[in-house]
Amino acid sequence: MAEPQVTGLRGVTLGVRDLDESLDFYTSSWGLTEVARMGPSAWLRATGTEHHALALCQSTQPGLLAVRLAAPDKASVDGLYAKALAFGADVIDAPDMLDTLAGGGYGFSFRTPDGIIQQVSSGVIEHGTRIDDRKRPQKFSHVVLRAENYPQLRAFWTDLLGFRLSDETDGIHFLRCSADHHSVALARAEGPGLHHMAFELPDLDALMYASGSMRARNHTLEWGVGRHSGPGNNVFSFFVEPNGFAVEYTTDMEQVDDATYPKRSKEWWRENRPNGARDAWQMAPKRSERLVKARLGLLTQEMMASDRGCAAALSKALA
Ligand SMILES: [Fe+2]
Repeated sequence: MAEPQVTGLRGVTLGVRDLDESLDFYTSSWGLTEVARMGPSAWLRATGTEHHALALCQSTQPGLLAVRLAAPDKASVDGLYAKALAFGADVIDAPDMLDTLAGGGYGFSFRTPDGIIQQVSSGVIEHGTRIDDRKRPQKFSHVVLRAENYPQLRAFWTDLLGFRLSDETDGIHFLRCSADHHSVALARAEGPGLHHMAFELPDLDALMYASGSMRARNHTLEWGVGRHSGPGNNVFSFFVEPNGFAVEYTTDMEQVDDATYPKRSKEWWRENRPNGARDAWQMAPKRSERLVKARLGLLTQEMMASDRGCAAALSKALA
């Protein structure tokens, strides 16, 4: 039997400061659709058939709560569970039916060495039809994690979960589990935490419409529209959402064939990146300071400090 491995990225679960505020952003502005709500949690789909691309949970500590990974079948889930135990991973629960989660399925959870929860599942309910709107995200594309100890974490993703290293630069390791050049990337930055997450639009025209729609709703374009001058070669536009997380629209991600893709080293990229780590088109203005802070987790920290200050001032005024 082939080694069990992860074959897709379903999305992420985020802890958010205010569920209603975040829901309004992700539905009215970002283009997702709410499919389920239960207490302090909500689930949102893209236009594709995946049950949900994003889960939100009201939390006093905004942040990345979980990364959700797909396995092809129950046997693969069981195989990955056995590998996780053999790997000495911090396993949270054994494989079981996920009846209490929207979309259901069969899966288990564990933590990476730096504490980020991974949920591996198969058999999650799929929608019978796609939403016919090309100007909205069609799927979750990739998540980039801030990871201080990323050599150890890279082994975890590749040896345990079966990800392949597509490319590495001085700052980021790009990992794939499908034809997409990367679904997960590990950024050398203080962590653990979310660096940014990206949702895929069908094509460049769709990405331009979606980005323009965000600006028309008074959301600042923090970087883009551009094409990454480097691994993945994908088109990007970056915004900041209500919790201070960096969110990206992307399209035209390089498609990779395992048999032929020539992984390139950080030395190769250092010498062959035509425009540094910036925009290959040389059209996008410099990335904003706000985006830099968001990708390092600093903006969320500032928001939480401000919230605490407001709460303290309010309680003092009411005393
Ligand atoms: Fe990205």
